[in-house]
Amino acid sequence: MVRFADFDTRGYPMVDVRTGYGQWVTTYERTVEDVMDLALLEELAVPSWGSVRRAADLGCGTGRTGAWLRGKGVASVDGVDLTPEMLAVARSRGAHDLLVEADVAATGLDGGGYDLVASSLVDEHLADLRPLYGEAWRLAAPGALFVLVVFHPHFIMASGMPTHFTSGSGESIAITTHVHLISEHVTAGIGAGWTLAEMREGVVDERWLEVKPKWEGYRGHPVSAAMVWRRPGL
Ligand SMILES: C[S@@+](CC[C@H](N)C(=O)[O-])C[C@H]1O[C@@H](n2cnc3c(N)ncnc32)[C@H](O)[C@@H]1O
Repeated sequence: MVRFADFDTRGYPMVDVRTGYGQWVTTYERTVEDVMDLALLEELAVPSWGSVRRAADLGCGTGRTGAWLRGKGVASVDGVDLTPEMLAVARSRGAHDLLVEADVAATGLDGGGYDLVASSLVDEHLADLRPLYGEAWRLAAPGALFVLVVFHPHFIMASGMPTHFTSGSGESIAITTHVHLISEHVTAGIGAGWTLAEMREGVVDERWLEVKPKWEGYRGHPVSAAMVWRRPGL
């Protein structure tokens, strides 16, 4: 198991998920970059978004992922998140049919009720990936897909940077960050029963450098990854 503390070059004070996102919520939408997750989702070839009837959005946050899914023609999206303040923004956005305050590992949503489970930019906050893959499996109908976008372990290690935000007083605050090697995802996914259908990695390219010119030194480094898992059965 890789420990983030062994790579931390920033030394920002670190808070738990609820505390962190409860504060970041006011600026979250302005600071999260679409190239991190939405650009990768756009590139995926396997999901036929328009034919998804019911999706579960795990770690839905302010509803960015849910709104993107609805924009792609997903008929109905239910969202789950730990942070009430993030859920309040998602509620006002209106992309979700149902919003639940719960852990991604124990959502309380209907078992077998979803033909898509999505989770974007959540994995680095989880100490163990297996409960996430297991809960996604429980929610998935036969033939369903589980689409994840993750903070790339290489980038966390190379940059020494945790997921963080700038507080109202201008201080950089980290939110509990774990490093998950890609093999941990593969092991957790296969262990839960999933079959990997597609994987893409996003690197620091011109789109990134437009929004983060300071990242020139990371040009070509992988920064995020998308995985599409399939539950066999149709
Ligand atoms: C970076 S945001 C991503 C939100 C949204 N998916 C997006 O892409 O904008 C991470 C979200 O995951 C939630 N989160 C982190 N750990 C969680 C857990 N164990 N259970 C439920 N939600 C969690 C946080 O509260 C936060 O809203």
